[in-house]
Amino acid sequence: MRLQIQHLTKSYRRGETRFDAVHNISFSLDEGAFVSLVGRSGSGKTTLLNMAIGLLSPDSGEILADGVNLFSMDDQRRSDFRNEKIGYIPQGRSLLGNLTALDNARLPFHLKRRSGDSRQKARALFAALGLAHLENSYPAELSGGELRRVALARALINSPEIVIADEPTSDLDLEAAHGILELFAGLNAEGVGFLVATHDAELSRYGRPVLKMNSGQLTQATEPPGGGDSQEGRPEGTQAFLS
Ligand SMILES: Nc1ncnc2c1ncn2[C@@H]1O[C@H](COP(=O)(O)OP(=O)(O)OP(=O)(O)O)[C@@H](O)[C@H]1O
Ligand SMILES: [Mg+2]
Repeated sequence: MRLQIQHLTKSYRRGETRFDAVHNISFSLDEGAFVSLVGRSGSGKTTLLNMAIGLLSPDSGEILADGVNLFSMDDQRRSDFRNEKIGYIPQGRSLLGNLTALDNARLPFHLKRRSGDSRQKARALFAALGLAHLENSYPAELSGGELRRVALARALINSPEIVIADEPTSDLDLEAAHGILELFAGLNAEGVGFLVATHDAELSRYGRPVLKMNSGQLTQATEPPGGGDSQEGRPEGTQAFLS
């Protein structure tokens, strides 16, 4: 799937003034691409991602998924689209406190009628993410990094075509963050597209391109020397271990 962001603008009110949290931003996430989004705190990354997945409506501009305007769909179709095609890892804590870690990860599978075994799938993801021992723990019993990884398993449970992740490695130590990067790289090698907002230098470097935001605007897009398919800077030995 190709996601096109076209001239998106979103303004918020602060006191007496309005300001553009996102101002006239356009770019495309081509099938199987890995785009990273960097920029200082408050530069508009989360606002942009929330529009890209159709959770927040823009003041102007369009988001096209394979040519179809997300905001021309009715609410039900838009949420079906998200549930089927997009794995979203929101910033901050987002798990339901009354479900176990495993059931949190399984939840999106059951929002639609599907065949297959969500428990088995969630367990495979938990194993890949080093969470196997925490299946039956509740969110209040997990560390920040563990919560992140459960949110990641939840984002991957429906085998999305695109993963949109908002600071997926915050709360993680270097080793765990590197593990997430390897996981993303493996999925990307299988054709899953990524749009990742991050302050993590290792993760952002992986992006082709790296988009930089400043005060709501895209100020810079860094392409690697020698074109978009350079493997330079990418981790070695990233295998596809999820299907
Ligand atoms: N609902 C809202 N109402 C008013 N202002 C908002 C709202 N949401 C975000 N903002 C403001 O819009 C700007 C962009 O916020 P956003 O969360 O998109 O930044 P960010 O780049 O994701 O920051 P961080 O790196 O800290 O997550 C900030 O100045 C923020 O205070
Ligand atoms: Mg943010």
